[in-house]
Amino acid sequence: MHSKNFLLALIFLSLTMVFACGEDEPPAPGPEYDPTPFELVIPSHMPILEIPEDNPMTVEGVELGRRLFYDTKLHKHEEHACADCHIQSQSFTSGPAVLPHMNFGWYNNFLWNGKISGSLEEIMLFEVASFFETDLDKINSDENYPDLFFQAFGTQTATHELAAKALSQFERTLICSNSKFDRVVYENSEFFTDEELIGYELFFTEEGDCFHCHGGVLMTDNLFHNNGLDDTFNDIGYAAITGNDTDIGRFKTPSLRNIALTAPYMHDGRYATLEEVVNFYSEELKFSETIDPLMKNVHQGGVQLTEEEKSALVAFLKTLTDTTFINNPLFSNPF
Ligand code: HEC
Ligand code: HEC
Repeated sequence: MHSKNFLLALIFLSLTMVFACGEDEPPAPGPEYDPTPFELVIPSHMPILEIPEDNPMTVEGVELGRRLFYDTKLHKHEEHACADCHIQSQSFTSGPAVLPHMNFGWYNNFLWNGKISGSLEEIMLFEVASFFETDLDKINSDENYPDLFFQAFGTQTATHELAAKALSQFERTLICSNSKFDRVVYENSEFFTDEELIGYELFFTEEGDCFHCHGGVLMTDNLFHNNGLDDTFNDIGYAAITGNDTDIGRFKTPSLRNIALTAPYMHDGRYATLEEVVNFYSEELKFSETIDPLMKNVHQGGVQLTEEEKSALVAFLKTLTDTTFINNPLFSNPF
């Protein structure tokens, strides 16, 4: 080709390229936002799980939530990660008063005194924005997070809301439903020992009377009760949130799933063992104005169990341990 024609062709080509890259054109192709739907498997004996329309679960969202959960960078001074207090091997608790994590997708009341009620996204937003006070500049200038937020949500810019959404997606995967109790009662694939069976019957009848509050497949009614721990209250519980005197001493009913792993017990960690808890319900209840009407035997200190019955109840409580949950590699530290 003649060199002059070649030059003209080159100019023409570069001009068309300049125009082709004008403002109306889509940006140069970068990585694509194409998240993969996350198939959450809910065991058939668990209730239907509602997933909010504005936070569908994706593989990328769950993975981002998991990283955030295990990363001290989420904390404004990098003092701790969620996982420092919420340790998988202990059903995501540690020490007194730390509430365990499991089956949160079905809860709508959070924290011992019910400070946050609503969706999982709302409690996670509280944890990120108010508790950890996440420094978004730090997340947004991180070498990995902008890409991970893009893959999960289509934007490189992290916000407290998006971090809360990712954490919620991860938390929804923390389903705890594979204990011996599940296999015996719901899957008919195992049997209780004689002692466990006695405990099970005590638990689910008026005799031991635990099921009113800790019943159902989640082992909690997710409501607030004064179960008779005290007759005067340092911590007024739910009343601090509602302002109603009738709520003094009421606390959230914890789930009893994995209860053998989550000592010490109660909102202040006052009992070190399940035996102590059972003794309390048997003969140490205290009367107060707001004691729950379900604590019908408070006049005699409690449900009055024999020593054999107490051991049986503890044996039953131990069947609520789900070892697949605490060993599931998908819930563990990704770093
Ligand atoms: C320093 C220890 C600590 C750290 C770190 C921590 N938590 Fe907690 N968490 C607790 C304690 C203690 C409670 C119970 C507090 C209460 O109810 O007043 C709790 C309760 C919760 C609850 C309520 C559970 C329920 O059943 O109502 C959720 C949800 C939760 N934490 C999520 C998180 C997330 C997410 C993070 C990280 C952003 C986090 N926590 C970091 C100690 C911690
Ligand atoms: C009236 C409702 C109610 C009944 C009935 C009830 N509980 Fe509770 N249970 C609660 C509440 C509320 C708490 C938390 C109390 C607190 O910490 O202030 C609790 C706490 C517990 C805990 C400690 C959980 C933890 O994570 O710290 C165990 C274990 C327990 N109950 C077992 C039982 C057993 C066993 C029975 C039957 C003998 C029973 N409960 C009957 C409401 C009830």
